[in-house]
Amino acid sequence: MNTNLPQEIDWRLRVFDSLSYPTLIMDRKGNVVSVNQKLLEKYNISKTQVVGKSCREIFQALFDDPELPCTRDTCPLDKTIAEGVGHSVLKQIQRQDGSTYWEDRVFSPILDDEGRVVYVVESIRDVTRTKALENIINDIREFLNRVVQSSTSAIVAADRSGRILLMNQAAEELFGYDFRNTTGISVTDLYPQGVAREIMKKLRDDDFGGRGKLPVTRVNILTARGDEIPVEMTGAIIYEGDNTEAATMGIYNDIRERLSARKKLQDAQSQLDQSEKMASLGRLAAGVAHEINNPLTGILMYGNLMKEKMEAGHPFLPSITCILEDAERCREIVKNLLAYSRHSSTSRECFAMNALVEESLRLIRDQRLFMNITVKKELSDEWMLAKADRNKMSQVVINLVMNAIDAMNEGGNLTLKTYRNNDRKTACLEVSDTGCGIPEENQSRIFDPFFTTKELGKGTGLGLSTAYGIVKDNKGDIVIKETGPEGTTFLMELPLDTDSMECIESIG
Ligand SMILES: Nc1ncnc2c1ncn2[C@@H]1O[C@H](COP(=O)(O)OP(=O)(O)OP(=O)(O)O)[C@@H](O)[C@H]1O
Ligand SMILES: [Mg+2]
Repeated sequence: MNTNLPQEIDWRLRVFDSLSYPTLIMDRKGNVVSVNQKLLEKYNISKTQVVGKSCREIFQALFDDPELPCTRDTCPLDKTIAEGVGHSVLKQIQRQDGSTYWEDRVFSPILDDEGRVVYVVESIRDVTRTKALENIINDIREFLNRVVQSSTSAIVAADRSGRILLMNQAAEELFGYDFRNTTGISVTDLYPQGVAREIMKKLRDDDFGGRGKLPVTRVNILTARGDEIPVEMTGAIIYEGDNTEAATMGIYNDIRERLSARKKLQDAQSQLDQSEKMASLGRLAAGVAHEINNPLTGILMYGNLMKEKMEAGHPFLPSITCILEDAERCREIVKNLLAYSRHSSTSRECFAMNALVEESLRLIRDQRLFMNITVKKELSDEWMLAKADRNKMSQVVINLVMNAIDAMNEGGNLTLKTYRNNDRKTACLEVSDTGCGIPEENQSRIFDPFFTTKELGKGTGLGLSTAYGIVKDNKGDIVIKETGPEGTTFLMELPLDTDSMECIESIG
């Protein structure tokens, strides 16, 4: 080191020499003016081997890659001189032994008092470690991205202002957005009004799963098309440092299928409960009917004998007539109970559903019954044959019609509609009224024997239970299809008998 140099220059040279990167200074022509100690040490050369030589000569002689750091077209030295600002070149270099490393060459201009570039300082940095870390980070980022994208749960992240930053594929499908081609989606767009704010409140609440966390919660989300979908979601606030909220994220699972499966299970369970109840009531009814039937036959037989023996005007004649009439009513009840408990004989014949409706209506054509009631028939044009006990089925239709009339005190519309259900292979009859409807608490009881809401002496409560027994005995079904303040619709179904030639022939 030259100790005679002015103090300032001496100080600068010391800095230059003590730089931890190999560094060289070149003039505008690319000739090396000076190199620092680190460079000499690293390449094991002396100053005289490099000073005064062009950078190209030096690179070819000393470095692993003769092209370093440029080809003539993209010379960073030229660029630095021309633009007066620094440039850098990052390059992966292959050593003679085949191994590689990364070098970052930084070119910085030295300007004179007029701002012209007089020299250029080039420092050579081995950034292999930094580059390796960068690659690891990129790999991790890529891996995490793949994890997020391949998740079957929808994942969404938003910044502090609520702007959506990320939506994985499942989220795009659930919410119906093409995220990459849509800008400006906000978290509030993803929920019905007020829900996003509610979720943020819970996220910030210490008592709700801990601050910054939302445990599994059921909410409705809003799709791009405006549909609401029930989901189960979890959420979190992503913090920067200890307290600063940087972003929020939510993970969503569509629960529509689970809800509908649960609903089907509940329906099946309540149907099972209902049929179990009906079966046990049926057994009870059958027992009672059987016990009453024998003494009743006796009462009717001896009563009739007595009546035959009495002459006209006999003082007991009105009483015995009363006894016989009441005994007849009892027999009717017993008959109905037996029909309900399916212990009465069944004779099956083939008939058209529409014909059943017509003949049932004919049987109750009494005009007084239909006061203020408009009867509408919407009978299907399709050929619908059922094989069942025709007389008893007629009794079922009459029961439904009578109940409908009873429900319309003030008058209204009675509609009988027939149609074919091809999926279930059934012939269907709907009896609808515009009456009072059936309150929810009664809906599970109306098929029970003796359940009635009608005043004493007006209804026995056996109409629907008998109808239920008859329909089930004929492999059909009877249900309340709809009921409410606007009226009630009962649906009765019987299996179609389309294949049977015998059936078609019997109709003619
Ligand atoms: N269409 C309907 N609208 C409103 N309620 C109805 C209807 N059909 C039946 N109900 C209710 O169901 C109860 C039971 O009906 P069900 O036919 O078994 O007996 P009922 O009509 O009361 O008596 P019965 O049929 O012996 O004359 C009725 O009392 C009524 O409360
Ligand atoms: Mg009835």
